Amino acid sequence: MRKKIVAGNWKMNKTDTEAFRLVKRINTSTIDESVQKILMPPFPFIKEIARFSSLTKIAVGAQNCSEHPSGAYTGEVSAEMIKSVRAKYVLVGHSERRAYFKETNELLVKKVEQVLANELMPIYCCGEQLEEREKEGHFEVIKQQITEGLFHLTEEQITKCIIAYEPIWAIGTGKTASADQAQEMHAFIRGLIKDKYSSKIADSISILYGGSCNPKNAKELFAKPDIDGGLIGGASLIAQDFVAIANSF
Ligand code: PGA
Repeated sequence: MRKKIVAGNWKMNKTDTEAFRLVKRINTSTIDESVQKILMPPFPFIKEIARFSSLTKIAVGAQNCSEHPSGAYTGEVSAEMIKSVRAKYVLVGHSERRAYFKETNELLVKKVEQVLANELMPIYCCGEQLEEREKEGHFEVIKQQITEGLFHLTEEQITKCIIAYEPIWAIGTGKTASADQAQEMHAFIRGLIKDKYSSKIADSISILYGGSCNPKNAKELFAKPDIDGGLIGGASLIAQDFVAIANSF
């Protein structure tokens, strides 16, 4: 059975006080126990939130990490540091990082390597732009992102990864991919994993949908056979919405 996962990507939002107010509300809500909840706050809050949430089994992740293990890289945060404050997951290759920080598949290979070397789980993001979909190039774009970013991994390593499909045109726009569009792409991604590795491995990897996922559309998305949960941006900043999404399976 694949894990059902709901991960909240807070991006660059919340001050210390606001972050704790949000975490407290989520922690005191009733959430389906079979769902793995992950909060991905900005770096300064990870340690406290991980400590605070350990009793409620809400895991914490980082939104990014350096491709280097340590050293003179001013302003960077290593996977080893993230592990040392008890986070369990790292987002790799979010479309905002690909676009604004020029992260390439080649660079992401190094980040995935750092994440896995520190026994953390990467949540590897892929997604196409609207023009690419309109020209019907979306499958090719996703294939390239997945192949170049992940398919150098061994069988053992790939089973430690989570994949998030986030069509760029749906992120923060209020425009969700339809459940059928999302399912079609998730099935395609699972097919790529099957062809490269095996059905057993493909069936074991959780593939999350992201892009304007909210309490209204989560149920229909999560009911699809290849959608194993969501990577939630905007709606993860409101406790009630995040909890409602987590309870949508
Ligand atoms: P959104 O963001 O839910 O605000 O569209 C999703 C994401 O970027 O991970």
